[in-house]
Amino acid sequence: MPEENSLAMNPFLDAIPDLTSLRETIWQELTLATSDSDEPWFLGVFGTLGLSSPELRTLVLRRVEQRSRSLIWHTDLRSEKFSQLERAEATSVHFWNPIHRVQLVVRGESQTFSSGDIVDQEWESSQLSSRRAYLGEFPPGTESDTMTVNFPAEFETRPPTETESQAGKQNFGVISTVVREMDLLILRQTGNVRAKYCWNDHDLGKPFWEETWVCP
Ligand SMILES: Cc1cc2nc3c(=O)[nH]c(=O)nc-3n(C[C@H](O)[C@H](O)[C@H](O)COP(=O)(O)O)c2cc1C
Repeated sequence: MPEENSLAMNPFLDAIPDLTSLRETIWQELTLATSDSDEPWFLGVFGTLGLSSPELRTLVLRRVEQRSRSLIWHTDLRSEKFSQLERAEATSVHFWNPIHRVQLVVRGESQTFSSGDIVDQEWESSQLSSRRAYLGEFPPGTESDTMTVNFPAEFETRPPTETESQAGKQNFGVISTVVREMDLLILRQTGNVRAKYCWNDHDLGKPFWEETWVCP
């Protein structure tokens, strides 16, 4: 039966009821998603504080550094989200896995980078086809009288070469979100369950993840 199969391969159900294993599973699944665009958590809905409302958009999760609790994202440094994070670093990210039927909401603080080692490394790891997004003359969100892809027409049918792509580096920015809270909701036929993790670095001693079950 397909459902039994999918249940058998659900690492979140396998980790229940151990909160610590469940937390490890979260980081494993996030890490896995960065190398497989078919993984649902490859995409996150990234929330920032706008001037008058919360602002949401889809971003590709590029890299995960579990040791520093960081999620790494690529974007155009001229974008609204980049300026919003420069004004207020508060960030929420929503992930949904419809196969495992698991929702993860993380909250934390994001730092923006427009130059330096992290930008150089992330730029090097980016694909040429992705780099054309940074070759636009105008900042994302700029209104236009005509329909526009906002990059040179020649790259509509081929990716830029390494040399051609370099012009985009000046618009390339990196966001690093340091996770402080994780809220995990697991949907089950027998009843949904929910776990919450908070990074405790304010008590004496070594910082640690405070973990608890909460009512779903
Ligand atoms: C599937 C998908 C993946 C996307 N990935 C990215 C991304 O990795 N980085 C990015 O800046 N925008 C990405 N976008 C576009 C953003 O959702 C958004 O439209 C754009 O970054 C402008 O956002 P802002 O004006 O809120 O800053 C993606 C959109 C979709 C639909």
